[in-house]
Amino acid sequence: MALRAVAEAFGTPVYVYDLDGVSAQVGRLRRAFPEAEPFYAVKANPCGAVLRRLVALDLGAEVITEGELARALRAGFSPERILLGGPRQDAGLVAAAQAARVGWVSIDSLSQAECWTRQAGSSRFLVRLNPALDPRTHEHLATGAATSKFGVPFAETAQVAEMLGDRLAGFHVHIGSQITEMDSYDEVFRQLGRLLERFPHVQTLDLGGGFAVPDFPLEAFAEKVRAFVGGRRLLLEPGRFLVAESGTLLTRILHVKPGSVKHVICDAGMADLLRPALYGARHPIRALDKDGPPEIVDIDGPLCENADRLGQGVALPKVGPGDLLAVAETGAYGLSMSSRYASSLRPAEVVLENGAARLVTERESVEDLWRLERD
Ligand code: LLP
Repeated sequence: MALRAVAEAFGTPVYVYDLDGVSAQVGRLRRAFPEAEPFYAVKANPCGAVLRRLVALDLGAEVITEGELARALRAGFSPERILLGGPRQDAGLVAAAQAARVGWVSIDSLSQAECWTRQAGSSRFLVRLNPALDPRTHEHLATGAATSKFGVPFAETAQVAEMLGDRLAGFHVHIGSQITEMDSYDEVFRQLGRLLERFPHVQTLDLGGGFAVPDFPLEAFAEKVRAFVGGRRLLLEPGRFLVAESGTLLTRILHVKPGSVKHVICDAGMADLLRPALYGARHPIRALDKDGPPEIVDIDGPLCENADRLGQGVALPKVGPGDLLAVAETGAYGLSMSSRYASSLRPAEVVLENGAARLVTERESVEDLWRLERD
């Protein structure tokens, strides 16, 4: 079904995910890393239909909250193939993960290790190393930086690893998201190499996710990784790479305001897609079924903030109210980061499968806004 027909059938704003595109990305990952075990980072896109496709493709899931854990179990990921990570891991989340018998846990701090060692259980543990480097990405996404809250500094990693005793299975590093440069991994491998000398029985390495979209040199990265990892067990946690490019946000133009900057006001904005406002992200935007000489415009949302925009200084053919725009590469961290700011209603989600479109999440209604309120 064409995007225009999707917008007409289901309204706007609407997120559209091409499930066959997701499968194709999984295929590319598997060809580059035939030996790796991928755990999809659910935070990128937790839509049930997307998760079920990834279950069918035999992936694991990386989760960081009780909500993500519940979604992963509901979608059918086997608990053995669920990896719990992240800074939370408080008593409630630890209990939920234990009850679910998750296969893997990434320990993010000494305090978490203490929490977990008080519990029996069969999960295997990884210690997340913070390599304290500059992964050359947006500062919000640089989780491997010395100043970031993630992981354990190199100097303390051995101590945390020792606390875990024979439940220590390996080490974990996730240097950041939207990573384009491979050089940082030289330092990562140097530090991991030293840990492996100290813990020679450890056979598992989790190198996280973070592969940039578009254009991550996955095959070159795989070669570099293979040279270091050798015959050890390799886990990966891709999120964006698997789903971003298969997602499109469709929005309808409400008004066009001429002026020194021409503003195109749309029915989607920062409540629906936060990435441009939060990271200055630039998503490709095109007008459906429009041709003509390009003009430079700002593509704005309907709310009362300057940051409420989808794109700044974008080239579009002449457009007017009622025209449709397609915001590309929005299958990751799109709806998953949406909000109800200004009592905005969350958009619908539609999947494309074998050429057909299917509504998988209804658009919120105004009644949903106060459904949980009590007088
Ligand atoms: N593993 C861990 C431990 C992570 O923290 C993340 C992402 C991933 C894997 C997956 O990273 P990916 O392959 O998707 O880059 N909201 C931001 C991205 C934040 C990523 C947080 N952690 C954005 O819209 O760009």
